[in-house]
Amino acid sequence: MAFKLNVNGKVREADVDPDTPLLWTLRDALGVLGPKFGCGVGQCGACTVHLDGQPIRSCVTPVSAVQGKITTIEGIGASAVGQRVQQAWTELDVAQCGYCQPGQIMSATALLTKNPKPTDADIDAAMNGNICRCATYGRIRAAIKRASG
Ligand code: FES
Repeated sequence: MAFKLNVNGKVREADVDPDTPLLWTLRDALGVLGPKFGCGVGQCGACTVHLDGQPIRSCVTPVSAVQGKITTIEGIGASAVGQRVQQAWTELDVAQCGYCQPGQIMSATALLTKNPKPTDADIDAAMNGNICRCATYGRIRAAIKRASG
């Protein structure tokens, strides 16, 4: 079945089964490889993308349920907040293996868009669904603070 999806500002068409997770639609049907597969059950955050600015777990979101604008790590730099977050991530050398970092950046950008001056507790609450096996949590928090100005 053909689904029209707005991905990073471009309308794309994916021919997939309706219950195909958005993650696999993006990766396999559309070649958008930034969102990563970690757990596949909505627990790790590696697959996080934005749907109309809200972070969602694309591994547990069927493509047929998606209505709205999808933003992935490839498109997050189009927003001023996303740019600041990416810059802070680079300046503080946040990534270790890097695998979870697209999801981390998507969650951080959603947080700062909603709450430009988050407290440590706000950061922990917003980011606790994003697991990092290299435990870069300290640098993630520092980068969010830097990006918050
Ligand atoms: Fe989606 Fe882990 S791969 S939350």
